[in-house]
Amino acid sequence: MKAAYIEATGPAESTIKFGDVPKPQPTGSQILVRTGAVAVNPIDTYLRNGANYWELPKPFIIGCDLAGTVEAIGPQVKRFKIGDRVWGSNQGLMGRQGTFAEYCAVDEQWLYPTPSNVSDEEAAACALVGITAHLGLFREAKLEIGESIFVNGGSGGVGSMVVQMAKIGGARVISTAGSPEKVNALKKLGADVAVNYKTDDVAAAVKSFAPSGVNVYWETVREPDFDKIVSYLAERGRFILMAGRDARPPFPVGPFYVKRCSLHGFVVFKATAEEQRACADDINPWLAAGKLKAHISRLLLLSPAAAAHKLQEENTLQKAGTLSGKIVLKP
Ligand SMILES: NC(=O)c1ccc[n+]([C@@H]2O[C@H](COP(=O)([O-])OP(=O)(O)OC[C@H]3O[C@@H](n4cnc5c(N)ncnc54)[C@H](OP(=O)(O)O)[C@@H]3O)[C@@H](O)[C@H]2O)c1
Repeated sequence: MKAAYIEATGPAESTIKFGDVPKPQPTGSQILVRTGAVAVNPIDTYLRNGANYWELPKPFIIGCDLAGTVEAIGPQVKRFKIGDRVWGSNQGLMGRQGTFAEYCAVDEQWLYPTPSNVSDEEAAACALVGITAHLGLFREAKLEIGESIFVNGGSGGVGSMVVQMAKIGGARVISTAGSPEKVNALKKLGADVAVNYKTDDVAAAVKSFAPSGVNVYWETVREPDFDKIVSYLAERGRFILMAGRDARPPFPVGPFYVKRCSLHGFVVFKATAEEQRACADDINPWLAAGKLKAHISRLLLLSPAAAAHKLQEENTLQKAGTLSGKIVLKP
């Protein structure tokens, strides 16, 4: 089968190959998925670049997210049958093989049924980012109806899911983006207030949106400014932190604890299969009802996977601003 894979870590153009690898056979509780679509996430680029969080299979097929159709099942599979449409994430992580291939053998615990009116492209685009947003909003922040949330970077992959799910959860949302087009996109995603962080006075916008501060602050940027963030938070504010492994910013200890705030750090890939499935159980009806929409910026073939990685990296790391949401690839 054709796959995008690496044999050594390094820059996208010199390490990602597109070519033939053996088609996997499903064993035990694995499902062989005929891939319909996959999506790029920033962590794919960190792993390919040699982040060395865990040992990678060799060759390593890149990618975490997938959506497609069940082609074959292992003898212990209970939840799916041949022909079912499925989506999932958390592959290519913790030493597992990735998804950028015509076929993927995935343990059924990481797969969810795809609603009939949702395309593979949409399901793949919402996979890792949707589960991340759900975990952060509902498991970590315990967002409640009527609360306010600030989403920094709301037009990105994670941010666009957080904005929409916070609205579904009954919250008031203020969010930032870096261009007038992306500010418009934020409004379409449902943000009550959308601010251009490059040209507008963000602090003034927060003050007028939530005079006593926001209940939840979600950071998607890799260099958080804790002084600013704590100043935006209300009493008992919850701060969701899930990006910026190398960041070492100063921390305003006094303002933080005097306001009785809490800091919630998490990574999606350490959530259990049950926790991730609970997120999918909400995401699926939201997708089917059109309450949650995929935010797709580019739709490409799988063969230029190296270009897709480069584009993701230029945006997440170098802040090129040329993406607004997800890069989705089709075999
Ligand atoms: N912990 C976890 O489980 C987990 C899960 C998923 C992702 N992540 C991490 O979360 C981060 C975001 O992921 P993603 O997929 O959403 O990436 P993304 O699609 O590249 O989004 C990044 C966003 O940051 C915005 N941004 C850049 N500079 C900004 C600034 N100065 N102020 C406000 N916004 C700014 C960009 O907005 P503009 O384009 O409008 O400038 C863009 O929307 C990555 O570092 C990723 O590794 C962690």
